[in-house]
Amino acid sequence: MTDTWTCALAVADLFEDSGVPVILHDRMLALFLVDGQAYATDAMCTHGAASLCDGFMEGHEVECPFHQGRFDIRTGAATCAPAFGALTTYAVKVQDGEVFVQLP
Ligand code: FES
Repeated sequence: MTDTWTCALAVADLFEDSGVPVILHDRMLALFLVDGQAYATDAMCTHGAASLCDGFMEGHEVECPFHQGRFDIRTGAATCAPAFGALTTYAVKVQDGEVFVQLP
């Protein structure tokens, strides 16, 4: 099965200081913008039922609003306890002002 690129939203709808929730193909994703670069991860924290779109951004890290676990949105790696499981990340491309996410 080939991966498909799916249009998620306009680049203008992204913010540098918080994630934006988007549902694509039944997946809840968080789209981020850091230094003009778009990133996509699963929206839910791997430690509990918290949306990382409600988290605090610092550089390329998002801090979970529930217990302050942290993740690197570039790799999905958990960078601070109590989060240990990595987030799934997705390839992103921008074309004609729209953000596309590559989904399996
Ligand atoms: S729910 Fe995110 S760190 Fe606990």
